[in-house]
Amino acid sequence: GKYTAILTEVNGRVATITLNRPEALNALNSTLVSELIEAALGFDADPNIGAIVLTGSERAFAAGADIKEMGSLSYSDMLLGGPFPSWEGFERLRTPVIAAVSGYALGGGCELAMMCDIILAADNAKFGQPEINLGTLPGFGGSQRLPRAVGKYKAAELVLTGRQMGAEEAERSGLVSRVVPAAELLEEARKVAQTIAEKSLPALYVAKAALQAAQETPLAEGLKFERQAFAASFATEDQKEGMRAFAEKRAADFSHR
Ligand code: HXC
Repeated sequence: GKYTAILTEVNGRVATITLNRPEALNALNSTLVSELIEAALGFDADPNIGAIVLTGSERAFAAGADIKEMGSLSYSDMLLGGPFPSWEGFERLRTPVIAAVSGYALGGGCELAMMCDIILAADNAKFGQPEINLGTLPGFGGSQRLPRAVGKYKAAELVLTGRQMGAEEAERSGLVSRVVPAAELLEEARKVAQTIAEKSLPALYVAKAALQAAQETPLAEGLKFERQAFAASFATEDQKEGMRAFAEKRAADFSHR
């Protein structure tokens, strides 16, 4: 296909992106990240896609940024964007993204999962921020998103010791939506994605934006955003259809308008 470090597939309104550098446990090098961003932005711009599943292999979602590629770069290299100049593209996606994590999600791999809206974990998943072992710290948002997900004290233990946590602990801690048997992970993730993709796309965009606001703004700002967005949703055809369908006791047929 078009890509060398990822695979892509479309089933109905659901797109799947599979990280595919098995020889390096899906370590995030510049090729993989630029392909991932290009594919994700392409699906995001396509109104026929209503949800994206992001997954890796059974052994690794991603074992972090590629240490061999990154190790000898300079401060200026990193300041200029390092191997990942277009990284922020992933954080601007409007389409809901479901991370389906099996095996290692370490460093940048854990951080990539945390940029997604939902994290489903296989029972063999292992999450961690081991950058401290390399003489550095998380660089794709881990020091900010992990405390918001699991609280200050557990995040501090993980970031300062480099310890990995398993799927059960991750679910207990609020990092993971749900744990499923490894063999069922992709099927479950696609079911969730399918359920989401059937909803009104404009409604999904604003619901995702409101959830992001909850992470990024003070409560009063987030509530203002929600009130505006809720009112604005009444300008869409899909809101009229959704409420009419309820009154008529039938399934809504959203036009994504
Ligand atoms: C480059 C990696 C890699 C990585 C694994 N590999 N992780 N290469 N970068 N992050 C490669 C190994 O070198 C090896 O290649 C092959 O994948 C298989 O890995 P092994 O180590 O042999 O497997 P195993 O013994 O099972 O150990 C698995 C592991 C370990 C515990 C996940 O690989 C590991 O600790 N990896 C590094 C995890 C890490 O520190 N991640 C954080 C990176 S920093 P060969 O060629 O020898 O077979 C980061 C910063 C993000 O993510 C922010 C950036 C801006």
